[in-house]
Amino acid sequence: MISKHLERKKLTASTLVVLLFGFFLFGHSLLAGADEKHVVRLTNIEFRPNRLKVDVGDSIKFINKDEFKHDVYLVRTANPNDVLLTATTIESGEATSVTIEEEGLFTLYCTIHGGMRGKITTTDSFELTEEEKKRAAAKKVLPPIVKTGEELFWNEAQCHQCHQIGDRGDGIRGPNLSDIGFRSRFRAEKLGLASGTEYLIQSILEPSAYLVEAYTNDMATVYQPPIDLNEQQIKAIISYLQSQGGQVDTWAIDIDAKKLQTKPTMNPFKNGDPERGKTIFTDAGCPSCHTTKPGEKKSSTAGPDLTAIGAFRNWTWLAESVIDPNAEIGSNWRYTTVFLKPESDGFQSEKTVFGFVRENTEEEVKILLEENRIATFSGDQVKRVEISELSKMPTNYGEILTFQQMADLIRYLQTLKGEQETAGQASSAGQK
Ligand code: HEC
Ligand code: HEC
Repeated sequence: MISKHLERKKLTASTLVVLLFGFFLFGHSLLAGADEKHVVRLTNIEFRPNRLKVDVGDSIKFINKDEFKHDVYLVRTANPNDVLLTATTIESGEATSVTIEEEGLFTLYCTIHGGMRGKITTTDSFELTEEEKKRAAAKKVLPPIVKTGEELFWNEAQCHQCHQIGDRGDGIRGPNLSDIGFRSRFRAEKLGLASGTEYLIQSILEPSAYLVEAYTNDMATVYQPPIDLNEQQIKAIISYLQSQGGQVDTWAIDIDAKKLQTKPTMNPFKNGDPERGKTIFTDAGCPSCHTTKPGEKKSSTAGPDLTAIGAFRNWTWLAESVIDPNAEIGSNWRYTTVFLKPESDGFQSEKTVFGFVRENTEEEVKILLEENRIATFSGDQVKRVEISELSKMPTNYGEILTFQQMADLIRYLQTLKGEQETAGQASSAGQK
């Protein structure tokens, strides 16, 4: 239904001759011809323009003006399964064209950059018709299992401790799962998995098999205590993830139950006393970097919030965090030095900024400063980013605490379960 071709910027001598000859023959009709009519630039992670009115038969040329690649994807807005242009990589400086051969309203995405979207219409409107809206709403009647999954995600299953979905929730240890039902198929393609659903299963049962870029191996083992989800619960959660921009297909969720049977090792600290542990926590100076009271949430900029740490971390993780903080440092708590280019900020000499890295891409670097403020720098202000391999947490607790004190402390951390149902207040399942 659609023709597309990749183009380089090269224009050979012979095409030039043909073009010139054609111009004499057909004059302006050639200028208005297929490829020249509409141009969309991919620049600063945006489509420009991001609203485009075309006629049936028109061609649109996408030119990547950014320094990095984009993966452009075009679907019918009323039915995202009606794909006009399947994810097509456009390297920096290159272009792709697509001809719109049907009436309708279409949505443009970049599959690499979540927020990058545009709309193309052959009608006068960039909105769905009332009838299309009704049909879309009817399709949104999701199977009840999605609702179960949503409740688990935002409560008992603790996913919200680390993940946001769109603007909902405040977990930042893991990536935002906005549109994951849609994006998972591209991850699957890259990893050679059969479907997006298979990727979702893998990311929950074997999180270390593939780490999302810029994140560390920091995801909880959700099918073991303290979270301890069973097969049905995991199915429900995956169907909820599918509903985030994708098709809900519970039949496709085929979980290998054997994987769930691996049991954690016995807790050697189980005889610790949490009451004594609480005192040790204070005496050892932990509160200077960590909050444990729900009311104080997010107030500390010196270390992660431990308010609900016992609800999602197992004893192995807790013990390792205290005895050997360098073993696994969460992606948000890596201490970082940003070297700024001279004069990038009106300063004459080179300047450095320290803090915990919150974002580090070619386009933007964000640093959490000690005074609870996030500093943002654009890619071209930054000369170099140095991320420390070492934790900012003291590494000698294993030496200064006795075994009994350590057991008391770990048992205390295990009792920190926070306020439940904190993030679960927001509403609908289809929320972006
Ligand atoms: C303790 C923090 C933590 C908890 C709890 C947690 N996750 Fe994660 N999750 C992460 C981190 C960190 C990553 C990125 C590293 C990786 O890919 O494993 C991640 C990655 C993912 C991904 C892959 C995202 C992508 O863009 O490809 C999915 C899906 C996911 N988590 C789902 C869940 C679900 C569902 C739950 C609850 C049952 C959950 N997570 C609980 C930290 C967490
Ligand atoms: C000087 C600040 C500082 C002090 C003091 C400190 N921590 Fe930490 N802690 C951190 C930082 C920074 C991290 C995150 C980096 C990492 O994982 O090592 C962290 C991580 C942790 C984690 C892992 C959290 C997670 O989300 O996985 C636990 C548990 C923890 N600390 C417990 C303690 C306990 C118990 C004490 C006292 C015995 C303590 N900390 C003292 C700064 C500190």
